[in-house]
Amino acid sequence: MSRPPTEDERALWERAVAARERAYAPYSRFRVGAALLMQDGAVVTGGNIENASFGMTICAERSAVVRALAEGHSDFSAIAVAGNPDTPDVAPCGACRQVLVEFCVATMPVIYVGGGELITEALGELFPAAFALRAEP
Ligand code: THU
Repeated sequence: MSRPPTEDERALWERAVAARERAYAPYSRFRVGAALLMQDGAVVTGGNIENASFGMTICAERSAVVRALAEGHSDFSAIAVAGNPDTPDVAPCGACRQVLVEFCVATMPVIYVGGGELITEALGELFPAAFALRAEP
């Protein structure tokens, strides 16, 4: 069940909107930004990075996750996703949901535009019955 975002969640989504500017999407022209919030308040952003070999494209959410992990963060507490202004409805794709499940609890808020409105939904609701092994790093 989704709910309206809090003020802080709305602010995180604005960070995703800003990150969208640095997306590299010359093939689809569909720019996406993501903003990942850490428990300590730090925010790590990412944009979709496309490639001439289309299947090599990395989504905004996964680029934010990879960047955050590379910078030493792993305590993710929320993620916001912003799609193209003219097509605002963008929920994380299935591949990104699977990657988020690897690092995030099921209650983690995901903030995105669905049905034309900014909403917050728990990761576990967006992606129930996810595959997980939970191996120690
Ligand atoms: N895309 C994302 O960045 N995140 C999603 O959750 C959905 C899709 C990107 C991938 C591709 O560069 C473009 O949007 C069109 O599919």
